[in-house]
Amino acid sequence: MARFTPDDELELLFDLKVIPHDIKQLLPEHLHMRPLASTDYTRNHLSVLSVLTQTPDPGPAAYLSRFQVLLSIPNTYYTIVIIDKRMDIIVAVGCVFMEHKFIRDLGIVGHIEDIAVDKKVQGAKLGLRIIQALTAISESRGAYKTILDCSTENIPFYVKCGYEVKGNEMAKYV
Ligand code: ACO
Repeated sequence: MARFTPDDELELLFDLKVIPHDIKQLLPEHLHMRPLASTDYTRNHLSVLSVLTQTPDPGPAAYLSRFQVLLSIPNTYYTIVIIDKRMDIIVAVGCVFMEHKFIRDLGIVGHIEDIAVDKKVQGAKLGLRIIQALTAISESRGAYKTILDCSTENIPFYVKCGYEVKGNEMAKYV
């Protein structure tokens, strides 16, 4: 069984302190919320994301290279994970990225993306904790609103997280 890797031994995507302490405190003792780390390829990150959509394995080098891209754009990508400390593996993930606009007095919008909870632990409020943390991060970064797109089936989940249906989603795939 893998040993839990403390935060200070990891290269993290953003400052730990950005995640509100009071939301971290709501997790059970064996779970830990932190920013994405450069070595999370080895902690089930892609496997957890695959409950959401196709997530082919690009290999460790390409994974690290994508992490470095996110890291190189400061104050923009806030990807968080929940780790099961007993196995040092990720069981839930989510991201909010900050869009800097000209409208609304140079307003900032938070876009929540790629929320996924490992099938084995769905229904245990981890999705809720991820959304609470991402919303708090978005608002603390100055967002006047935080938005997301989801399937009709997931609307009740986001309503429970405090979100409301607003507008329509449009898409054009290649
Ligand atoms: N329909 C109705 N209610 C739901 C649903 C649903 N599909 N999912 C969760 N809920 C309710 C729960 O019952 C709970 O209600 P309660 O407070 O009354 O008990 C509340 O919402 C919180 O649920 P959680 O336990 O936090 O949900 P979970 O940890 O399972 O996470 C999630 C929900 C993220 C949808 C998870 O099931 C998942 O990963 N699904 C597959 C991937 C996915 O669809 N991700 C979201 C894509 S949208 C995006 O990324 C922006």
